[in-house]
Amino acid sequence: MHSLPPPHPDAILHSQRLTATIITAIERAGGIIPFNEFMQRALYTPGLGYYSAGMRKFGVDGDFVTAPEITPLFAQCIARQCQQVLANFESGVILEFGAGSGIMAVDILKTLEKLDCLPTHYFILEISSNLQLQQKAMFEAQAPQFLSLVKWLSKLPAEPLQGIILANEVMDAIPVQIFTVQADNISESHITYADNSFQWQEQVTSNEILQQAVTKLELPVGYVSEINLALLAWIQSIADILEAGMVLLIDYGFPNKEFYHPQRNKGTLMCHYRHHSHIDPLILVGLQDITAHVNFTAVADAAVSANLHVAGYTTQANFLLACGLADILFSLNPDDKQNYLKQAQQVKTLILPSEMGELFKVMALTRNLDIPLLGFSKDERTRL
Ligand SMILES: C[S@@+](CC[C@H](N)C(=O)[O-])C[C@H]1O[C@@H](n2cnc3c(N)ncnc32)[C@H](O)[C@@H]1O
Repeated sequence: MHSLPPPHPDAILHSQRLTATIITAIERAGGIIPFNEFMQRALYTPGLGYYSAGMRKFGVDGDFVTAPEITPLFAQCIARQCQQVLANFESGVILEFGAGSGIMAVDILKTLEKLDCLPTHYFILEISSNLQLQQKAMFEAQAPQFLSLVKWLSKLPAEPLQGIILANEVMDAIPVQIFTVQADNISESHITYADNSFQWQEQVTSNEILQQAVTKLELPVGYVSEINLALLAWIQSIADILEAGMVLLIDYGFPNKEFYHPQRNKGTLMCHYRHHSHIDPLILVGLQDITAHVNFTAVADAAVSANLHVAGYTTQANFLLACGLADILFSLNPDDKQNYLKQAQQVKTLILPSEMGELFKVMALTRNLDIPLLGFSKDERTRL
């Protein structure tokens, strides 16, 4: 049994509306849909999905806390890496995917302004129209001076881009396919609706791309995990528009060997609801986040296939320290003891191995940019 906080009656109604649309989709599809379609609908159905509807998700009052919500020092480090890259372009831009509350964009621009290195534009590609509104409100309240620089997009621009593409905790929110290795074939987890609830149903896959990709992994019979084929297409779409510059990807995950470790034989799918983590994506539909860890080897392979250069891969702790996290902390006024201690505590959350320091990784992909990147200048032992 789940011991999760009960949702508010309005939230229950909201979830029932979303559930009804997913049931219709399942009926139209003949009784089952693949799990990745369920995840896509649960998170992104316009107006109803977890990310598309107006509920509070980020921060202490929401369901989970991301690094830019913990402390502005995170964005200040990212800004230092951006400064080094932007210095190579006369009119470089930044494009941020899935900007959440918008706080990272605000803090990056505030830092770049101080460093006298503002981009010509800061694009925010946000597929949730509700989050776009929340991000605009964040800029209006915290940094209205940058509103003329910021442009919200709902899809990638058609024009090639010079500068930086950022994505913090975006890849883990891209829908995954769940597979089981069977003796003679690969089955894919599907979702059906029966007895007033969503339920799992396995089906041998006829999807050749999935079959080939899973077979290549050489996993034992009975092994269950996820594969994110949509992520590979996402990397290709980014590569298609990056003329010159850097893609900076920050997320939790592992290289292939650890991702498909013999002991991790049930996958990495996690749900987040009011700071409780659990593994059942079929409940609280539209009210909880559904995520999977990122396979960074697969990301690197996709990048290389798309003619991007893997310029750096390291832990979040190494990256932030190389970008000067400790210097930024020590430059705070120590007489303001309360703030100093608070920031020091938050820095610990970002870098301790038992917190976000090692599970979170940073990967830089570049094109036509041949410089040793600041954030990867520390001892580079993290292997793909
Ligand atoms: C876990 S939240 C992270 C938000 C924010 N980056 C942060 O660190 O607080 C995931 C975000 O990714 C966005 N997202 C997921 N897939 C996306 C895509 N294909 N394009 C743009 N945004 C996407 C979601 O709408 C959401 O804003």
